[in-house]
Amino acid sequence: MQVRYTYRILPIVFLLCSAVNIPLLAQTEVNYDEANVPDFQLPDPKYNPERKITIDEVEEWEDIQRPYLLDLFSQQMYGEFPDEDLDVNFILESNQTVFDDMGVRKEVTINVKSEKGEKDISLLIYLPNQKEPVPIFLGLNFYGNHTIHSDPEIQIHRSWVRNNEDFQITNNRASEKNRGVRTNRWPVEYLIEQGYGLATMYYGEIDPDYDDQFENGVHALLREDIDKAGLSSISAWAWALSQALTYLQQDNDVAADKISVVGHSRLGKAALWAGAKDSRFALVISNDSGCGGAALSRRRYGETVARINHAFPHWFCQPFSAYNNAEDELPFDQHTLLALIAPRPLYVASAEEDQWADPKGEFLSARHASSVYQLYGKKGLYDAKMPAVDQPLLESEVGYHMRSGGHDITRYDWEQFVKFANKQFKKS
Ligand code: GCU
Repeated sequence: MQVRYTYRILPIVFLLCSAVNIPLLAQTEVNYDEANVPDFQLPDPKYNPERKITIDEVEEWEDIQRPYLLDLFSQQMYGEFPDEDLDVNFILESNQTVFDDMGVRKEVTINVKSEKGEKDISLLIYLPNQKEPVPIFLGLNFYGNHTIHSDPEIQIHRSWVRNNEDFQITNNRASEKNRGVRTNRWPVEYLIEQGYGLATMYYGEIDPDYDDQFENGVHALLREDIDKAGLSSISAWAWALSQALTYLQQDNDVAADKISVVGHSRLGKAALWAGAKDSRFALVISNDSGCGGAALSRRRYGETVARINHAFPHWFCQPFSAYNNAEDELPFDQHTLLALIAPRPLYVASAEEDQWADPKGEFLSARHASSVYQLYGKKGLYDAKMPAVDQPLLESEVGYHMRSGGHDITRYDWEQFVKFANKQFKKS
C-alpha cells in the first residue's frame, strides 16, 4: 500500500523540486524495493550501432566489437588509462622467507617517471615457498600494505590516507599503529597453504581517493595540456594493476598465465575495469563492487549513477555524469563490462545485507554477460537462477555467490575464489 502511494507521489515531488530548484538527489529515497525497479531494456553487447550488425563470431567480437566497447567505456564512463608518456620500471627491494620458511615476502617498487617528475608505488607480494611458479591473486588495498598483515617488515607508505579512528589513522598519515589492522580481509597464510600467492598495492599511493582535479597521484606526472575531463581515479587504479601484472609476469616464481585480479567495493570496480581492458589477467573477481562495478545501472536499486557521481566525482570521467538519472541513455550497461572479460573466467560475489550494491543487479549482470561467453562455446550463467544465500555457483566460467552478512570481503569469500580458481586452473 505504502509502496504504491510513494510510487504515485514521486513524480509530483519531482515536479515540485524542479520548480523550486531543490536538488532531486536530496529529496529522493534510495530504492530498496523490487516493485519500484523500472522496466528497462539492456543493450545487446554483441550489437554494433555504428555498423548496424550483431556480432556472431569470435573473430568479429575480438577484432571489431571488443575494441569498440572498450573505447566506449573509456570515453563515456571510466576514462583513459593515464599511460601516455609514463616510463615504468620495477625494482626488487627485498626477497625473504617468512612464516617459518613456509612463505616468501617480496617488496617491489614500481617507479613511474615522466618529464614532470616521478613517483613510487610499492607492490607487496607473498608466495608459497616452493620451486614451481604459483598462481597469484592481485588486488588493491584501502589503507596501506602494512595494514594487510602484522608482518613487521612491511614498509609503511607516506601517501595521504583516509583518517580512521578504529585503525588509529590521524592527520591522514599511516603509521606503525595501523600495522595489521586489516588482516581480516587478507588471509595470507590460508592462500599460501592453498598454493596461491597474494600481491597488493595501496590504492592511495596510485591516486589519493578524493577530488583534487587530478593534480596528485600519477595524474601529477601527466602532461600539462591533458584533457582532464577524460581522466578518472578508477582508471588510474586499474592502470596500476596492469603495471603490477607486467612485473608479476616477469617474476619466475609466479605462473604468468594464472594471475587473477580481485577487488572489493570501489576497488572491485577498478579490478573489473582492469580485467576488461587487460586480457593478460587470467581470471577476474569482483567483490561487492555494486554501482559502477558489476551491478546493472538501469535497475536504479541501491546506489545509482547520479548518487555515485555526486559523492565521488573523481571516480569516473566527466561524460559519465550525463547519465545521472538517465540510465536508459547509456550505450551499455554493466553486463557489457563483464562480457569484455569473456572467455576468461569471471567471479562475481555479493553480500545479502549489502543492498546498496544491489546483489540481484550484480547477479543479473553476470548472467547477461553470458551471451558473449556463449560465442566462445562456453555456458556462463545464461540459464542460471539467482542462488540462495551461501550457495555459490562454481561450475561454469562465470561464478557467483551471495554471502550472508554485510559489505566486506571475508574468509568465506576467499574460500570461494580459491575453489573457483582451482577449477579454472585445474588445480586440486
Ligand atoms: C561507497 C560507495 C560505493 C563503494 C563503497 C566502497 O559506499 O557508494 O560505490 O563501492 O563506498 O568502496 O566501500
